Amino acid sequence: TYKLAIAGGGSTYTPGIVRSLMDRLEDLPLSEIRFYDIDGERQSKVVVAAKAVIAEYTDSIKVIDTTEPETAFDDVDFVFAQMRVGKYAMRELDEKIPLSHGVVGQETCGPGGLAYGLRTIFPMVELIDFVEKYAKESCWIVNYSNPASIVAEGVRKLRPNAKVINICDMPVATMRNMAGILGVNREDLVVDYFGLNHFGWFTKVEVDGVDRLPELREHISKWGLLTEDISKIDYRHADASWIKTFKNIKPIMDFFPDYIPNPYLQYYLLPDYIVENSNKEYTRANEVMDGREQSLFETVRKFEETGILDDAFHVGVHGIFIVDVTISIAQNLAKRYLVMVENKGTIPNLPADAMIEVPALITSKGPVPEYVGEIPYFHKAMIDQQLASEKILVEAITEGSYEKALQAFTLNKTIPSAIVAKKILDDLIEANKEYWPTL
Ligand code: G6P
Ligand code: MN
Repeated sequence: TYKLAIAGGGSTYTPGIVRSLMDRLEDLPLSEIRFYDIDGERQSKVVVAAKAVIAEYTDSIKVIDTTEPETAFDDVDFVFAQMRVGKYAMRELDEKIPLSHGVVGQETCGPGGLAYGLRTIFPMVELIDFVEKYAKESCWIVNYSNPASIVAEGVRKLRPNAKVINICDMPVATMRNMAGILGVNREDLVVDYFGLNHFGWFTKVEVDGVDRLPELREHISKWGLLTEDISKIDYRHADASWIKTFKNIKPIMDFFPDYIPNPYLQYYLLPDYIVENSNKEYTRANEVMDGREQSLFETVRKFEETGILDDAFHVGVHGIFIVDVTISIAQNLAKRYLVMVENKGTIPNLPADAMIEVPALITSKGPVPEYVGEIPYFHKAMIDQQLASEKILVEAITEGSYEKALQAFTLNKTIPSAIVAKKILDDLIEANKEYWPTL
């Protein structure tokens, strides 16, 4: 049996991930789950729900709720990382400050993502060091922490030998929708994909050896990444803004006639359109705070009062994927998933040290990427620009360089000019005083 720690235990995603773990106890038998968060009060509430979920399955798993790194990580086999530095209050500013300058306001794309990266790199490195100090030598950190692309680059640079696998659920969420459109199971799809995290393309979508990508493209150009009858798909993000995201992919399809773009590319290709259609006073952070956040804490309050667990904590692809990846590591299954890896020739016409997102076999020694080959010039050019923005941002963090931060912002495709880049950066410095290294 294994001991597993969840860093960022106070996340609203925790109960869903725990249910997903419970569904797979046969493949990943657990003796302990440790919840670790720097905000103990918040975490304790979430742990009430997590414990109630565990109790539905077993009484033989020991639960620890702690803010002490040693208690959390001592002798553990796996760590799930899902930290949100600055919580939703800072996500709100990441979204609203750029919007106030007429620029995309998004948690991982554009200036918001860069700001979040500046907050997250050092806490992520601190977490890695705690795990290295206390956990088993064989321990893997399976990392969902955003902005994943920048976090992956920071980890590569600062802790190159750490056992961290950086993952994101957007490719599997997209595959869930593609499967819904084709009327098959997500597990039946075999896809090829290349890019950076939140910045890539599906190049093949096979079902039973037949490439269904052309058919999917036709559908998506008409309906977006939605079935005509959206009630037929089990959407994790059933809320309006995610439906909008999956619809907004339509106008960018024509730029990639052979591929299906990751929906996040809309922020880089349609920034003006996205800004025009954004509510500058009420962003995604507000929706999440008023929705997912409130309903979890309300569920916990009710449970403590009545003993009834209102919400069954639906298991979506988010929870399923992190557990699938972990089982593939634990059992050395070499299952094929899309994850972030260091390029090292996988895509020969991108820098060898780029953190790319591609199919890889997940083994107990880590991800082994499949060779992709050269990519077209247009896609390479887009990736190179985004990569430069992210790499220079990480240099800005490690060197404490204002000039490099400004370069990173200026290079980001969502930002129209150097003057706007400087204005946004200066506002974000002010807002992030408590969190950013001095630039
Ligand atoms: C997807 C992305 C994550 C992102 C999340 C935001 O799952 O892969 O990187 O954090 O969406 O969802 P939310 O509901 O918080 O806007
Ligand atoms: Mn993601």
